[in-house]
Amino acid sequence: MGQVFNSDILHGKVAFITGGATGITGGVARAFAEHGAKLAITSRKEENLIAKKQFIEENGGECLAVAADVREYSASETAIQKTLVHYGRIDIVVNGAAGNFLCAANELSPNGFGTVVDIDTKGTFNVCRAALEALKESRGQIINISATLHYLATPMQIHVSAAKAGVDAITRNLSVEWGRHGIRVNGIAPGPIEDTEGMKRLLIPELKDKIMRKIPVGRFGRIEDIENAALYLASDAASFVNGVTLVVDGGSWLLGTSLT
Ligand code: COA
Repeated sequence: MGQVFNSDILHGKVAFITGGATGITGGVARAFAEHGAKLAITSRKEENLIAKKQFIEENGGECLAVAADVREYSASETAIQKTLVHYGRIDIVVNGAAGNFLCAANELSPNGFGTVVDIDTKGTFNVCRAALEALKESRGQIINISATLHYLATPMQIHVSAAKAGVDAITRNLSVEWGRHGIRVNGIAPGPIEDTEGMKRLLIPELKDKIMRKIPVGRFGRIEDIENAALYLASDAASFVNGVTLVVDGGSWLLGTSLT
């Protein structure tokens, strides 16, 4: 696709990105750095953080790596504080930390359900709440990574569906409550993205063909598609966009294809 936005659209901005070391949100982090943002990334896994920090810095960006489990409010708050000490400001928060596995509802333990809700939903709230004062100062914004699983019903994904429905509720509520502080709150709901680690493992050729037939635009999504959606929402081009969860799925969920 190549670069579609000017390379300086996020110049001077500081982006705090949870789950920013790997996967879709790792792509968003790299894209933000390529467009001028300074990064603070969090993950539970130290080794992923170190690798990402090194990659960003080798490519001319700035990256603070902070290990944190967003399920804990105090850990979220500490990560935000470390970012403020380092950069002095936060302009963009991206909530991408998420848990996911396939499991039928009748086999899922209450703790399994709760673990995903804790990471996705509570983690998103924790980070938003911890970043509020900094975002008030910068008149910044939040982007929550969601899914389309809960628009219809997705077997084996009751936990993620419930968690992401909660994330969408957070996006709408905060957009209304914090809009008056100049803070925009939006979300992105990716559809079937083929170049993530999880999807590469899941997509055996027969399954891939079957799913492809149910994607209206005739191709799988790429991490790049989500990066571009995030760049748009983060840019001034979206300055009147608030409370929206932008579906980036080639129209898939309308045909009941919400593999994420
Ligand atoms: N199937 C069913 N239950 C599962 C499971 C699976 N594949 N993986 C975890 N669980 C359950 C555990 O059994 C446990 O419940 P229990 O105590 O009743 O047995 C509960 O979830 C917590 O598991 P645990 O491994 O202790 O939690 P954790 O905090 O270490 O990690 C995840 C849980 C979900 C975050 C972890 O499995 C993970 O990292 N998954 C991949 C992350 C990912 O894909 N991110 C991208 C999201 S799009």
